[in-house]
Amino acid sequence: MIQFDRIKKTFTLTTEKTMYQMQIGPVGHLLHLYYGPVTEGCFDYLQLTRDCGFSPNPYDLQEGRGWSLDTQAQEYSTPGVGDFRLSTLESESADGIQGADLRYVSHQIRPGKYQLAGMPAAFAGEGEAETLSVLLADAATGMQVELLYGVFSQRNVITRAARILNRGASALRLNKAASVCLDLPFGDWQMIHFHGRHTMERQPERVTLMNGIQTISSARGASSHQHNPFVILCQPDTTDRFGQCCGMMLVYSGNHRTDVEMDQAGAVRAVMGISDTNFSWTLEPGEVFEMPEVLLTFTQEGLDDLSHLYHRFIQHNVCRSRYALERRPVLLNSWEAAYMDFDAEKLLRIARSAKELGVELFVIDDGWFGNRDDDFRGLGDWFVNEKKLPGGLKVLLDSIHALGLKTGLWLEPEMVSEDSDLYRSHPDWALTVPGRKPTMGRSQLVLDLSREDVIQWLYETIAGLLRENPIDYVKWDMNRHLTDLYSHTLPACRQGEVTHRYVLGLYDLLERLTREFPDVLFEGCSGGGGRFDAGMLAYHPQIWCSDNTDPIARLTIQEGTSYGYPVPAMGSHVSASPNHQTGRSTPLGTRGVVAMSGTFGYELDPGLLSQEEKDEIRRQIDRYHDWQDLIREGDYYRIQSVDKARPYGAWEFVSPDRDEVLLNVVLADVSSNPRPLHLHLKGLDPQGRYRIESAGFYGCNARLPHVPDRIFTGGELMYGGYTLPILLGNYPSVQICWKSVTG
Ligand code: DGJ
Repeated sequence: MIQFDRIKKTFTLTTEKTMYQMQIGPVGHLLHLYYGPVTEGCFDYLQLTRDCGFSPNPYDLQEGRGWSLDTQAQEYSTPGVGDFRLSTLESESADGIQGADLRYVSHQIRPGKYQLAGMPAAFAGEGEAETLSVLLADAATGMQVELLYGVFSQRNVITRAARILNRGASALRLNKAASVCLDLPFGDWQMIHFHGRHTMERQPERVTLMNGIQTISSARGASSHQHNPFVILCQPDTTDRFGQCCGMMLVYSGNHRTDVEMDQAGAVRAVMGISDTNFSWTLEPGEVFEMPEVLLTFTQEGLDDLSHLYHRFIQHNVCRSRYALERRPVLLNSWEAAYMDFDAEKLLRIARSAKELGVELFVIDDGWFGNRDDDFRGLGDWFVNEKKLPGGLKVLLDSIHALGLKTGLWLEPEMVSEDSDLYRSHPDWALTVPGRKPTMGRSQLVLDLSREDVIQWLYETIAGLLRENPIDYVKWDMNRHLTDLYSHTLPACRQGEVTHRYVLGLYDLLERLTREFPDVLFEGCSGGGGRFDAGMLAYHPQIWCSDNTDPIARLTIQEGTSYGYPVPAMGSHVSASPNHQTGRSTPLGTRGVVAMSGTFGYELDPGLLSQEEKDEIRRQIDRYHDWQDLIREGDYYRIQSVDKARPYGAWEFVSPDRDEVLLNVVLADVSSNPRPLHLHLKGLDPQGRYRIESAGFYGCNARLPHVPDRIFTGGELMYGGYTLPILLGNYPSVQICWKSVTG
């Protein structure tokens, strides 16, 4: 619900459990009052009105010197008018005026959810959301800013975005244009963010805010392995189970930046949006610049609850694919099975043995096109390599279909190799700086997706492949970051627009392809999880979580990812042992337990497995089929993160009706005579009665400590907990499924 109080000039946005309040200030600035639990109230009494010294006053409020933008919580902060803290905007008019003094002009409340032109944004079903837009203007430059708020009452999510409109007579230059400023004027806040590197993405880190500014950002042209565009601000005592936390997630896949500042008064301000590194944008009179959306959540019920809010929202209101809410096929991907060393016969042999094990989709990864025998060449030549696959792609795909398998194909559309027909005929289609040798990444260059002709060619090429071949699934990869940020078609004054235009081009391409081919299942990828963000999830219902398929390393990668992103979006496969990335050997069963907490599939050559291993894979796939609805639709709970004192990861899925629960535990280390491995389950009905339906132990000889037909109450399992038997061995694991019993 969105309410405007004409007397107090407050906007109150309420969801079932949260409330967000703003006020038009005494001289028209849009002030932030409150974001927290839903309650009656007007929080304008919290505004600071004392002179803090060296905090300047708007001209018409100079008497008393107590009112300063430097100490007021605001919705969209600008520089140059008395607020010396983080600013959302850096701008310059043709006559050199920097900054803006944004004052209220008008507002509109309407049913439904606003959309953004050319960028993904959350969508709403009938009656599911309302929109508030507030128009602010700067008299000196003619700049207007429209702040957009989408209120999803039942989902407890508030979305925000902003548009800049040039209503002046001459061009405006934007040097920074962030989407959101969120002020938290009181309280002790910590920040959780998700950093990493290739093959070790989204490692959670919780830090106490320092006085000053902390920054999470990517200037790599992609949201990146290094810093995910998602942060959580929480109280020091917040845990997975309890406590206040507030999430900010950017729906954007390119350069991003989140600054969190603790100011002189101890107030916290978070500014999130497109990064200002290498960014500038020229806005001609009458033009509009839109900024990507931020998904805000607040809860008092801990980090698990915050994760559930994001999981549901992304699945129901961000991801547009019909597969977002559907079962996904168990796949086998050829990458770690064959890399680029294959021909049709080998692929068919792998596909045939995969089918015998119960696999449903066979994916031909990198190496099927052009002269792509290694990763030094071939990107951009999206026609089949007939030496490897004689007769063409369709012949092979038809043969795979004839085995009763769905077919999948790997593409890396955004890239071009120097050694490719595409580069030879269109060298200017790559991002390169005139007069400078380009920087190479995996021996490839990045296509200039800011160009319409490049987008059109990519669209025709990929659409052609999808029209002419029986392809059920596409893996969309991106294996280097952007350098040499120069487009050969843009004028000098617009070269700072390249990285954002690149993302807009990418979204345009994805929009057209996913619209035309709604039945193709798209999986995103960027050297694993280098572009795992809500922007890509709008088009791809699943993203390859990491190039690291080691189940022990995956414990933290998948757990980190789970804070913001739904489990069914995480591409996760069982690969060979010893693992190709870490060299570690782990039991097949343990690899299965971890991969099942994701889209589930394989990435190995089944022909190299023993009969015993093949049998285990058949059983694994059966188990996955039994549980895939629970995993996809159920609530995911983090139970234990691997740490020194407790070197095991534990997590759980609970069905929406709380009738079924699946507990997963993986040991990253074992010790002799260990302390009891005791876990408290979560999310059950305390009065419910649960019986163990099945228990699987992998990589160890353990058995259940209780007679299997012992019935537990939900309260016993949650408050008393459950003690596992001693687990010894190399990376043992356990899966226990309880079902509720009636009577
Ligand atoms: C990086 C991906 O993450 C891998 O899964 C694989 O597709 C390779 N690229 C292929 O080059």
